[in-house]
Amino acid sequence: MERFEALLTSAGSELLDRLASGAGGGAGTGGAGAAVGPRQALRLGTRLRAEYPTDLVVEALGQHELRAAAGSKFSRAMEMFFTRAGLEQASPQVVAEHTASRYAAGDIVADLCCGIGGDMLALARQHQVIAVDADPLHLRVARANADVLGVGGNVTTVLSDVRDVGLAGADAVFVDPARRAGQRRLRTGDSEPPLSWCLELAGRVAKVGIKAAPGLPREAVPAGWELEFIAVGRDLKEAVAWSPALATTGTRATLLPGGHTLTSTPAGRGACRRDVHQGAYGVETPVPVRAPGEYLLDPNPAVTRAGLVAELARELGAWKIDGRIAFLSADTPIRTPFGRSLRVIDSAPWNQKQLPARLRALDVGSVDIRRRGLAGDVDELRKRLKLSGTRRATLVMTRVDNRPWGLLCLADE
Ligand SMILES: C[S@@+](CC[C@H](N)C(=O)[O-])C[C@H]1O[C@@H](n2cnc3c(N)ncnc32)[C@H](O)[C@@H]1O
Repeated sequence: MERFEALLTSAGSELLDRLASGAGGGAGTGGAGAAVGPRQALRLGTRLRAEYPTDLVVEALGQHELRAAAGSKFSRAMEMFFTRAGLEQASPQVVAEHTASRYAAGDIVADLCCGIGGDMLALARQHQVIAVDADPLHLRVARANADVLGVGGNVTTVLSDVRDVGLAGADAVFVDPARRAGQRRLRTGDSEPPLSWCLELAGRVAKVGIKAAPGLPREAVPAGWELEFIAVGRDLKEAVAWSPALATTGTRATLLPGGHTLTSTPAGRGACRRDVHQGAYGVETPVPVRAPGEYLLDPNPAVTRAGLVAELARELGAWKIDGRIAFLSADTPIRTPFGRSLRVIDSAPWNQKQLPARLRALDVGSVDIRRRGLAGDVDELRKRLKLSGTRRATLVMTRVDNRPWGLLCLADE
């Protein structure tokens, strides 16, 4: 804690500012925001130690490295503070801003397990926040981040085990339980505090959001709760369970940035909406299963995890290529943010022997291999293809009518 506090002194901020501006050690320091490599760090450290206490230099170099790494999560990372574990566990800003938007204006939100403040900072832009964490350093870092980003006036920090805090002053709760204990990752599905404790919060405060790993099964959440799967691009980031007072649907897939949302009906039975603000499109007609057509759609992992592939098919007028496989197909180009559309060049029963010749004939030099429903060693296959052409293609290993099937596709531009 003392070492962190030193960073907040005038010498500490001066040193961090010098590192951020690339002026820490003169030429060759990597420029603003760049991570300093081990050799550079050594040279730089030696130079800075002549001007600042050694401990401060070590701490500042470590903090600078964390700031540079945090650039992928936070737009103002170079002004913020982190611990390594706190950064790893922090919600990316784009996700935190989205989840914060689920709370109503004026709500006082208790952010339980606030860590270094990824969620708290987004909440505090719109709400008064009671931020609780049992780790004094995380809480101190969260406070420093709130002050640096100008939302400190909206934040009250509380150093406590979340089990021991009263929630009388809160209108709503967001809880992001730890999925690691110290350096050790907890088993999949385990968290501290556990999910069961988090779910019980809804008995004390009606509006509750619980952040969880994206692998959380639907059955883990009681009826009446919404389970939202959030992806940034095609990267499935997290699941959030929303208590009945905040839920508007059964399951939801949200794509960020952009906020495209695909939902099941409130009863979770099948109709879908492209956007929560637009009317329902679908009806509960069964999704046809047919052989692949001219276009293939690989749904976003958030859609697949949310169990909304059939809803997406209905919305797009597409069909499934196999009852159990999450690829959709159509004979016209598929325009949707909810999946990656590919133009099918070849569609045939899986035949690995013919592939190298076919790829050579098509001048394909690199393939993105997607395997779904078909076993096989992708790296081994890639080696055997011996590619040498100039074009990029996608090779899909899958099943059609429960038979091993191969599709050769190009990006649908
Ligand atoms: C996943 S991190 C929170 C990340 C945070 N939402 C963010 O975006 O930066 C979990 C946090 O829970 C805290 N924690 C774990 N068990 C706790 C408990 N029983 N009471 C209070 N805090 C706890 C850890 O110290 C850690 O900072």
